[in-house]
Amino acid sequence: MLASVMAPLWACILVAAGILATDTHHPRDSALYHLSKQLLQNYHKEVRPVYNWTKATTVYLDLFVHAILDVDAENQILKTSVWYREVWNDEFLSWNSSLFDEIREISLPLSAIWAPDIIINEFMDVERSLDLPYVYVNSSGTIENSKPIQVVSACSLETYAFPFDVQNCSLTFKSILHTVEDVDLAFLRSPEDIKRDKKVFLNDSEWELLSVSSTYSILQSSAGGFAQIQFNVVMRRHPLVYVVSLLIPSIFLMLVDLGSFYMPPNCQARIVFKTSVLVGYTVFRVNMSNQVPRSVGSTPLIGKSASSASWHGFLVSSLSLQSIVLVKFLHPWLTQGVFLHHAESSFYGEHLAQPGTLKEIWSQLQCISNYLQTQDQTDQQEAEWLVLLSRFDRLLFRSYLFMLGLYTITLCSLWALWGG
Ligand SMILES: *[C@@H]1O[C@H](CO)[C@@H](O)[C@H](O)[C@H]1NC(C)=O
Ligand SMILES: *[C@@H]1O[C@H](CO)[C@@H](O)[C@H](O)[C@H]1NC(C)=O
Ligand SMILES: *[C@@H]1O[C@H](CO)[C@@H](O)[C@H](O)[C@H]1NC(C)=O
Ligand SMILES: *[C@@H]1O[C@H](CO)[C@@H](O)[C@H](O)[C@H]1NC(C)=O
Ligand SMILES: *[C@@H]1O[C@H](CO)[C@@H](O)[C@H](O)[C@H]1NC(C)=O
Repeated sequence: MLASVMAPLWACILVAAGILATDTHHPRDSALYHLSKQLLQNYHKEVRPVYNWTKATTVYLDLFVHAILDVDAENQILKTSVWYREVWNDEFLSWNSSLFDEIREISLPLSAIWAPDIIINEFMDVERSLDLPYVYVNSSGTIENSKPIQVVSACSLETYAFPFDVQNCSLTFKSILHTVEDVDLAFLRSPEDIKRDKKVFLNDSEWELLSVSSTYSILQSSAGGFAQIQFNVVMRRHPLVYVVSLLIPSIFLMLVDLGSFYMPPNCQARIVFKTSVLVGYTVFRVNMSNQVPRSVGSTPLIGKSASSASWHGFLVSSLSLQSIVLVKFLHPWLTQGVFLHHAESSFYGEHLAQPGTLKEIWSQLQCISNYLQTQDQTDQQEAEWLVLLSRFDRLLFRSYLFMLGLYTITLCSLWALWGG
């Protein structure tokens, strides 16, 4: 029983031993193994890799903007995806390639070597980057570390010109601890090349990348001078979708409202018309509020003029004016009707009661003359009101036109600025 179980087990062990014995390849035999062992054996990653401590380690930076993921004006946050590359020289990691099978480049674990502590000044959230485990080292000790990073950075976003806005956000790279005497920064490519490079940028998003200008500077502080490199990412919005969904309806509503001024001011249909515009506009505004970016510092012009104070004020004031006038006009008709009814009833009533009395006829005639006089007065009042109303209406119309003109001019100049 036991033997029958053990027999296949022994066979397996023998076969495994055979494989091990016949296999002559071992990592220890590879030149790469020798080299990395040689390089890392006496390496101390705590020490900045220079033989003469007075020499600064220069880190060369490069940046490719890959995508603009989110522009959050309300929280003043920009989310971008960038490809970041840093290159520096490690004097402790160089070798004579002819001694190591002509190996010129080798990848080493990043965790095993010294690396500069470079951060982005504006970062607001944990940078999400793939923790790439290896870096490339060549035989003269030049180390290249590149990685994609998702940067969540603070940026002062201006929304006034929305949807024709151009944003300018900076990403500033600097060593968090080392002064310029220890860690210096430099450009890997020329700033001109960086500025114009849009090769990897994803074009299909809402934003278009205009340029990435970069400047080197030394920030003086009490702890010493810090080298920093600032990349200014300048981008502009593709406005078409907002022009179609916001601008055109808002202008249309304004024009419709403007057209309502051509109805006579004492026309009852006008108040109905204005009410419809107001309702339509309110619905539009509710829909719009989701699409227009809001920031504490500045309100978008389109939001400002199409939604708040001025236009709303105009609509409401012209509407309330209409209602006042309508009530004023309805009022005489009402009183007129009641009066007439009263006059008729009293006339017939008294006529039936005491026919033929001359005094009675006289009083009735006086009554009618009184009534006609009152109506004359009402007519006069009505005319006065109408004059006042049309004057006010004209004033409202002119200021409305003025506002609309101002709005159009501002929008056009914003558009021109956006294009230029
Ligand atoms: C380090 O470099 C400085 C100037 O580059 C030089 O004056 C100094 O002698 C060097 N020190 C050593 C130990 O080589
Ligand atoms: C590299 O090693 C070869 C062979 O030993 C030698 O001839 C050469 O001078 C060495 N080169 C350097 C830069 O030390
Ligand atoms: C290592 O890379 C640096 C930078 O790319 C280059 O200047 C240097 O010549 C390379 N060294 C060798 C031995 O290829
Ligand atoms: C972006 O802002 C920086 C300063 O923050 C400025 O130096 C640069 O000229 C601006 N770029 C554009 C295109 O406005
Ligand atoms: C985006 O457009 C630019 C030119 O406008 C082009 O050079 C670049 O390759 C495009 N990017 C992608 C990812 O297609």
